[in-house]
Parts: sequence; C-alpha cells; structure tokens
Amino acid sequence: MSRVPSKVLVTESSSRDGLQSLGAFVPTAAKVGLIENLASAGIRTFDAVSFVNPKAVPQMADGAEVIAGITNRGDVELGGLVPNMKGFEAALAAGVDTIGLLTAASDEFNERNINATVDEAMHRIRRILLEIPRGVSTRSYISTATHCPFEGEQDPDWVAHLAETLIEWGSDTVYLGETIGKATPFHIEALLDHVLEVVPADRVGIHLHDTYGQALANTTVALERGVARMDSSAGGLGGCPYAPGATGNIATEDLVYMLDGMGIETGIDLGGVANVANDFCSAHNLSYNSRAGRAWLASQDRE
Ligand code: HMG
Ligand code: MG
Repeated sequence: MSRVPSKVLVTESSSRDGLQSLGAFVPTAAKVGLIENLASAGIRTFDAVSFVNPKAVPQMADGAEVIAGITNRGDVELGGLVPNMKGFEAALAAGVDTIGLLTAASDEFNERNINATVDEAMHRIRRILLEIPRGVSTRSYISTATHCPFEGEQDPDWVAHLAETLIEWGSDTVYLGETIGKATPFHIEALLDHVLEVVPADRVGIHLHDTYGQALANTTVALERGVARMDSSAGGLGGCPYAPGATGNIATEDLVYMLDGMGIETGIDLGGVANVANDFCSAHNLSYNSRAGRAWLASQDRE
C-alpha cells in the first residue's frame, strides 16, 4: 500500500525565513498584513517570527509586535523560532502557539548561526522542552540535515540520532532543514531511511530550500515515505543570514500546485497565495520566485 499521505500540513515560513535576511526593514504592519492575507488564502499554520538577538537579525526585532498585531487568532497557529531560553521566554510572553527550537547537524554552522556547538544547542533545547506549558506545541529544527555550507555532506545516521533524541526529550515534531538547497533525491532518501527508522513519519517534517531547484523532486521522495509536514514560503522568499548563497524555501505556490495535482489536500488556494505574494514582492521590491505562481498569474491575465 502506498504511504503517500492524503493531506499535507503546510507551514508558511515567508514572514520568518522569507524576510530574515533582508536588509531593508519590512514594517510590522506589512508583516502582519502578509500573514493575514495568506491566512485568507487558506494557510493555517505559520512559522511566523523569531525571537533572536536583534543585533544579529534586525529584521526579526518586532516578533512580539507582529504576533500582537494578528487578529482572528482562532483561525491560525503562529510559531516563534527561538535559539535559547531568552528567546523562549519572549515567545511565550508574546503568546505564540508553537515554539520552534533550533540546532544544526554540524558544529560550524551552528556556531555561526546561534553561537553554540550541536551538543550545547541540544542541551538548550532539552532545558526549554522541560518548560513547555500545556497547549503550546513544539517543532525542533535540525538544520544542515544533508549538507553544511562549511563542513559538506552530513551523516544521515547522526541526523537520525539527533531526531530520535529530540523526540525522546518531548518535542512534538522534528523538522529536517535542508538549509542550503543542495540535496538531490537520493540524499533525501538516505536521510529519511535513517530518520524514519527511529522516528514515526507523522512526527517528521521537512524544510527544504530551493537553491538548486531540487525542492519539488525532494518533496516527492518525502511524500513517498509518508511525510506529511512541509514548510514553504510564498513567492519562494527566504534564506538564512548564516548560509551564504542559499536562496528561499520551496515556494508555497509550487508545492500547492504539485500537491493539488497529486490529489493531496492542503486547504490552500494557489491563486490566493500567488496574488498575495506577488503584491507583497512588488510592494517591497523583491523578486517573485514561484514558477507555479507566475504561471497562474499569467493565466489570469489571459482571461
Ligand atoms: P550570543 O552572542 O551567544 O548570545 O548569541 P548572548 O547570550 O551572549 O547575548 C548577546 C546579546 O544578545 C545580549 O544583548 C543578549 O541580551 C541578546 P546585549 O547585552 O548585547 O544587548 N540576546 C537576545 N536578544 C533577543 N532575543 C534572544 C536573545 N538571546 C540573546 N533570544 C544568539 C546567541 C542565539 C542570541 C545569536 O547568535 C542569535 O540571535 N542568532 C540568530 C540566529 C538566527 O536567527 N538565524 C536564522 C534563523 S535559523 C534558520 O533560518 C534555519 C531554519 O530556517 C532551518 C533551515 O533552513 O535549515 C530554521
Ligand atoms: Mg530555512
């Protein structure tokens, strides 16, 4: 029997991963508008903001204000990414629904990103997991899950060990971060073969960047293995300030187009996302990077 899921939970990352590397500050109201307009297109789950040192990532300095600005909170689940206890406390005070926790598989990326070795980051996560209040969910990211920009290819067995440990320590889910978008399908296959031996598929998510144009192909590998949690970013916005040259996440429009075509439910309206993201990119002078979204917008012009 095929393990391909009938539904996928898409978590929208444009207001966090999509914006974090931009130099020009996007005003709080525009971030709130982006999330609310994407919610109107059917997106329910957001990797909305992060709570990090504003000197390190100035674009994310207004995380609490963004969360406070969102109306209709009953319709959406808002996540805050936290690198340490200080970020965790700020995220709880802001009232996020989900805490995103952060390590990488490789020490060098982790040290540059959050000034902690993998071992140190894992222990920070463990302490935070012990303090998660009832009603708040957790997703733990393992960045550089296949490739590190500094240390190269990663050992899938090591990543599986980290994933298993995070779940054992109480994380609800573990998201495999393909931070630099270098992996091809056999890398994802090897990674998932190891991870799914020790963590059930319903607790695993993928967070793919599309730098080398491999993200959709990689997504099909995950689908075939029953993975049904996927991050994406409207308009393909994104990148990590500590991963030189890495571009955005898989575009939400591209992902939704493919899942729609495969009969896999997301609840998301591709055209709605394309309009919102295209308008946002025009307003902020950003390039709009979804092929499916461009095709959909062009098809509307012809009608
Ligand atoms: P540090 O220098 O070790 O921190 O940085 P520290 O504890 O020594 O504190 C230094 C200063 O930062 C102090 O302020 C702290 O108060 C402040 P000062 O006295 O200088 O004014 N500080 C904070 N302020 C706000 N919120 C906090 C916080 N913590 C300390 N949480 C730290 C360590 C983690 C803080 C720093 O390295 C940092 O902020 N890094 C940002 C990392 C980041 O945002 N990276 C991008 C997100 S990760 C990503 O995109 C990957 C992902 O998408 C998955 C994938 O693609 O693979 C998730
Ligand atoms: Mg990312």
